[in-house]
Amino acid sequence: MEKEFTYEDYQSTAEWLLSHTEHRPQGAVICGSGLGGLADKVTQAQAFEYSEIPSFPQSTVPHHAGRLVFGFLNGRACVVMQGRFHFYKGYPLWKVTFPVRVFQLMGVDTLVVTNAAGGLNPRFEVGDIMMICDHINMLGFSGQSPLRGPSDERFGPRFPAVSDAYDRNLRQKAHWAWKQMGEQRELQEGTCVMLGGPNFETIAECRLLLNLGADAVGMSTVPEVIVARHCGLRNFGFSLITNKVIMSYESLQKANHEEVLQSGKQAAEKLEQFVSILMASILSCDKAI
Ligand code: HPA
Repeated sequence: MEKEFTYEDYQSTAEWLLSHTEHRPQGAVICGSGLGGLADKVTQAQAFEYSEIPSFPQSTVPHHAGRLVFGFLNGRACVVMQGRFHFYKGYPLWKVTFPVRVFQLMGVDTLVVTNAAGGLNPRFEVGDIMMICDHINMLGFSGQSPLRGPSDERFGPRFPAVSDAYDRNLRQKAHWAWKQMGEQRELQEGTCVMLGGPNFETIAECRLLLNLGADAVGMSTVPEVIVARHCGLRNFGFSLITNKVIMSYESLQKANHEEVLQSGKQAAEKLEQFVSILMASILSCDKAI
């Protein structure tokens, strides 16, 4: 088995980055599939390929760029991950979440996570944005946690609470930011469930997930949020509903990755603009704290 990272590994990557950029980000954004365009909105950008950053896992899937972009989003100092590490690609969860602790050691205090997700809630339409209020960690049900293994109290406690994983104050700010957008559709809110993938869900699984209380289903985000909350970051999460999941045996439709990417492309601009507006409101929020 591969050796897990030690505190010093995270520290040396953070120090390497701090010594290779003058940027000092407060906010970090992890972009979901098809949502990496946010990185193009970064001003005074300085980008690093994942391959040049010591210990950083590498991105493997086509269409998923692997770059860390430092700079400013709407005047706020940020670092944007363009391309994330998915569990279904074979990465262990401690690798999936590696960047989060590096960001924390670099001084980041707020994490924004976006993902593409299938809509379980029948009220959701393709192209809707769902603010994540809570999650169901399906992998955790089977003992897969990014916090499994030796505990280092320098990051956080052995048994952390995650009942406040998605910051309540930030969520209120998000409603204000949404109003600035003048969108006709409301900002959806709900619970996101993560499955390991890479296959999409069966009809029976979708029915089960809806009954469990989930509104959207994806294959990412939850591990990063758990690790971020554990090390004291405030979290924000947004799912872009790229498809409505199939709930009926009468339906001839099937979920597919191209549809996910295509819907992502169409709605991405909206989500990027939203996150950008949000950054400014978080900045004033910081001052108030
Ligand atoms: N299921 C799981 N993950 C997804 C989906 C889905 O329907 N759509 C986008 N990501």
